Amino acid sequence: MIVGRGWTTINNVPGRGLTVEQIENTPQPLEFHTAVPAAEPDGGHYRQLADRMNEAWQAMVEKDEELIKRQANSIEVLSDAIALRKVLPELGAGGSPVAVPVGINDLDREATEIELEKKGPHLIVIGPPMTGKTTTLRTLALSLAHTYSPSELALVMVDPSDPARRFYHYGAGDGSSLADLPHVLATVSSSEEMDEVVMRLHAEFDDDVREALKGESNGFKPSNADKRRIVVLIDHYDDADMLNQGDLGLEALAEVGKGKDLHLVIGGSLDITRDSMDQLRRRAEAARYTLVLQDHDTVRYMGVRGDFSSEAEMPPGRGYLVKAINASMTQVCLPVAQGVAGVSEDEALADMISAIQKKYRKGAQWSYHAADLSELEEVLDIDGLGSFGSDGGDMDMGGSLDELEALLAEQESEMSGNGAGVSASEVDSMKKAELESLAEEMGVMPSEGSGSGGSVLVDDLKNAIKEAL
Ligand SMILES: Nc1ncnc2c1ncn2[C@@H]1O[C@H](COP(=O)(O)OP(=O)(O)OP(=O)(O)O)[C@@H](O)[C@H]1O
Ligand SMILES: [Mg+2]
Repeated sequence: MIVGRGWTTINNVPGRGLTVEQIENTPQPLEFHTAVPAAEPDGGHYRQLADRMNEAWQAMVEKDEELIKRQANSIEVLSDAIALRKVLPELGAGGSPVAVPVGINDLDREATEIELEKKGPHLIVIGPPMTGKTTTLRTLALSLAHTYSPSELALVMVDPSDPARRFYHYGAGDGSSLADLPHVLATVSSSEEMDEVVMRLHAEFDDDVREALKGESNGFKPSNADKRRIVVLIDHYDDADMLNQGDLGLEALAEVGKGKDLHLVIGGSLDITRDSMDQLRRRAEAARYTLVLQDHDTVRYMGVRGDFSSEAEMPPGRGYLVKAINASMTQVCLPVAQGVAGVSEDEALADMISAIQKKYRKGAQWSYHAADLSELEEVLDIDGLGSFGSDGGDMDMGGSLDELEALLAEQESEMSGNGAGVSASEVDSMKKAELESLAEEMGVMPSEGSGSGGSVLVDDLKNAIKEAL
């Protein structure tokens, strides 16, 4: 049968050919395609097979309705834009150990969870520019706040980048943006704010500091340290050095809450893994728990099992969640869907955040909650000298001046009584040296010049130490 049209070029489609027909008494070349005995349905043999299997399945289900429960879920293509809502549990329904969904994984299209307690305690999120690191931190923060109460889990949000890029500046900003979640203890974008947070974290996790503050300070109400975890989220870590301009900075943060319920989540480019002196990142890295966005090479270099030779472009938010040498591909969710059903992104976010705010009227509080930090500083031995964190931090502040005097008197009688030939004035100067070194350690050294020859008086030393205690 000839179904042809005017001939253009010769092609090699099977069944196609050329013929010459007489049209209005002139010979014309025409293309034709040979007809087949029976038409193939759309999609070919596999579609036909699937249709027949489906028919058979329907017939089986008609006979036994129970079978429907065993039907497999349909498998969708891993989508480029998934809203977090799709994987979230009920509000406040988090269990122990802490784990929250942040995406959909490629293997079974079920939720990808960040298991902070089981697989962490820390997480690093890395990837080239514009691959979805900030979005991941926003999604994670929202997922944590949705899943756990502020008394179970509190957040500290750190971002040294400029205001327009900060991850916690997300939402309309009228009390319903990410930073307004009741779980947020503090947001940090400067070295002053960083140092303040480090001090307050000591009052959460450092038993000596808590003991010293108890009963001493009205601004201190210890949280239940066994129950509440604190997650410190730091984005744009490439710029984090500007947080080190104060006395404490990230190096001091690296020392707080070790072995306690303090979790670090650090987001940045691949460069952040290069500074071998960076104690904070190294602490986080020790967990070997990393979300690598869009970068096959990095995953390969991490020694992960599997084939990561693909050069295929990945969309933003696509990457590998790596624990030690195991990895699974995942698509991170967007915190909220973008402009669905006439609801803007900001409105959708405000809805989620206000639902969380309504459930928890009382927001998270620092144990040391006073605005005035001086009592905490005294306990921490800082008072602007920056000695804290080096040696001052370990000092036992529990003893009173009375105990110290008793100790000195004991030494005094030992020295003069055992006939070692120590004169009374030598004993006095040793006693003074002891007091001086204590005042020095506590950072309360009185100014010189009050005594003879411009030296410090013993009584001044005693008074200064007494005040500090
Ligand atoms: N999970 C995601 N799903 C879909 N699109 C995403 C996802 N994450 C990010 N995107 C898209 O990629 C863009 C960049 O995302 P984002 O700002 O989070 O990247 P970044 O890695 O933090 O960038 P930078 O390197 O500038 O800090 C977003 O504006 C968004 O359009
Ligand atoms: Mg970013």
